[in-house]
Amino acid sequence: MSREVAIRLQGVSKRYYLGTPVGDGLKHLLLHLPSQIKAIRQRKPFDALVDISFDVHRGECLSLIGRNGAGKSTTLGMIAGVLKPSAGTLETHGRISPLLELGAGFNQQLTGRENIMLNGVMLGLTRREVRERTAEIIAFSELEDFIDAPLRTYSSGMIVRLGFSVAVHLDPDILLVDEVLAVGDARFRQKCLERMKQFRSRGTTMVFVSHDVGTVAKISDRVAFLESGRLVEIGDPAKAIEAYQGRLRAA
Ligand SMILES: Nc1ncnc2c1ncn2[C@@H]1O[C@H](COP(=O)(O)OP(=O)(O)O)[C@@H](O)[C@H]1O
Ligand SMILES: [Mg+2]
Repeated sequence: MSREVAIRLQGVSKRYYLGTPVGDGLKHLLLHLPSQIKAIRQRKPFDALVDISFDVHRGECLSLIGRNGAGKSTTLGMIAGVLKPSAGTLETHGRISPLLELGAGFNQQLTGRENIMLNGVMLGLTRREVRERTAEIIAFSELEDFIDAPLRTYSSGMIVRLGFSVAVHLDPDILLVDEVLAVGDARFRQKCLERMKQFRSRGTTMVFVSHDVGTVAKISDRVAFLESGRLVEIGDPAKAIEAYQGRLRAA
């Protein structure tokens, strides 16, 4: 019997163009049209991910490991729907709670409390559902004293607390956690890991990115090792971690 698929990537690639000038805005583009056209012609393609295929089954915890720049965050961003694949297909089943790179999805000018509402609604809850969970979210984050201050006054550790707390209180079917936890202090990180273990035993699907192979080994059902945008190994955690560490030693 085949298990239910929560996430499926088939032949997914992601190509970025380096030096794309549209980042400077339309006005800049128009004002400098000849040089901008030249720059667009000369922009270099860069393949952040090449032909990635894997499934994540419902209730499974898959971790992504690999060096900086390997393509882990790009993979998560595509699963979250924030980034579009340049080729291949990607399907997901269920409500996704993404905890992506620091502050993604948050607004710096709004307060912590307002950001909870913003995120909850963005992730598909009604305002009422978010209001019902707000007290719990604030309590878990331990940010009671700062919750009505604008996010721009928060430290990166505080933003992670809020982000994690929001993500885990929205009843996700799929929880995505990028490396951000590394920013928090050890005690809060431990609390987050406990919560992730609870999710795991409840059957929530998880995709977890971390450099901490000890934690990865403990929490994952399978591990995927990415290198330079390619999937080198996926499967048994010990084996994938060993492959990764072998490459690190060889480097
Ligand atoms: N918006 C972008 N434009 C161009 N290159 C990018 C962009 N985002 C990421 N990259 C490049 O794609 C590669 C993979 O990045 P990323 O997925 O963030 O890696 P990881 O999370 O494994 O460190 C890196 O070489 C990075 O520089
Ligand atoms: Mg990353």
